[in-house]
Amino acid sequence: MARVALVTGGTRGIGAAISKALKAGGYKVAATYGGNDAAAQKFKDETGIPVYKWDVASFDACAAGIKQVEADVGPIDVLVNNAGITRDTAFHKMTLQQWNEVINTNLGSLFNMTRQVIEGMRARKFGRIINISSINGQKGQFGQVNYSAAKAGDIGFTKALALENAKGGITVNVIAPGYINTEMVQAVPKDVLEKNVIPQIPVNRLGEPEEIARAVLFLAADDAGFITGSTLTVNGGQYHA
Ligand SMILES: NC(=O)c1ccc[n+]([C@@H]2O[C@H](COP(=O)([O-])OP(=O)(O)OC[C@H]3O[C@@H](n4cnc5c(N)ncnc54)[C@H](OP(=O)(O)O)[C@@H]3O)[C@@H](O)[C@H]2O)c1
Repeated sequence: MARVALVTGGTRGIGAAISKALKAGGYKVAATYGGNDAAAQKFKDETGIPVYKWDVASFDACAAGIKQVEADVGPIDVLVNNAGITRDTAFHKMTLQQWNEVINTNLGSLFNMTRQVIEGMRARKFGRIINISSINGQKGQFGQVNYSAAKAGDIGFTKALALENAKGGITVNVIAPGYINTEMVQAVPKDVLEKNVIPQIPVNRLGEPEEIARAVLFLAADDAGFITGSTLTVNGGQYHA
């Protein structure tokens, strides 16, 4: 029986590459998104992967959404917590809303999503939880106190949950991507990318979403059971915590 994988933010950017790679790897995949219906429809038409719309910052929406996915596709074996946003600004100008949106979407979502699937995984004695953090959660970044705090929180969440479930066939790992060529990074002005970002990447280019997907497949595999609580950096050599 094919394993079932659910990818949050799985219709665009890194998440879309993860969804496609999991499907190509033989998984039954479902992808969620937050609001961009046109991108989700295009992704669905191109891949045949079912898409579901809900806000990962809402616990109740996650509960209802996952119930629906499990009814349609089956119990979730692999959860990829990928959905994320930025609301960049210097901390002394940051609003409570900018703080809350990023914390709730990038860190709260790990509770909201994982809490719904963990009991089933424990009962079935198999699970793969893969969280997508960021290099900026490891090293901090100017203008990203909210984002860096949330992404560092993703790493702590991973380490603690891995300990609690290590005996039960469930692994919990986190990937910390560097700068990846998606709309999130394309929103950074081109001259900032060329002058400030790329010169700091030893490989001398942005990463591609498929290069993160490759790491997800590695951690999701049935025979990856001895890897848990780990942080995998995929950043072109830019930083190692
Ligand atoms: N790109 C990078 O260089 C980079 C580097 C390090 C880490 N990351 C992390 O990698 C992940 C993916 O980044 P990306 O660059 O692929 O982002 P992206 O292109 O902006 O795509 C984000 C995805 O997340 C979904 N999403 C956002 N907020 C949501 C919400 N509240 N509820 C449900 N879905 C939501 C979006 O849905 P809609 O399509 O509906 O908007 C979209 O599918 C994020 O966690 C990001 O922080 C990215």
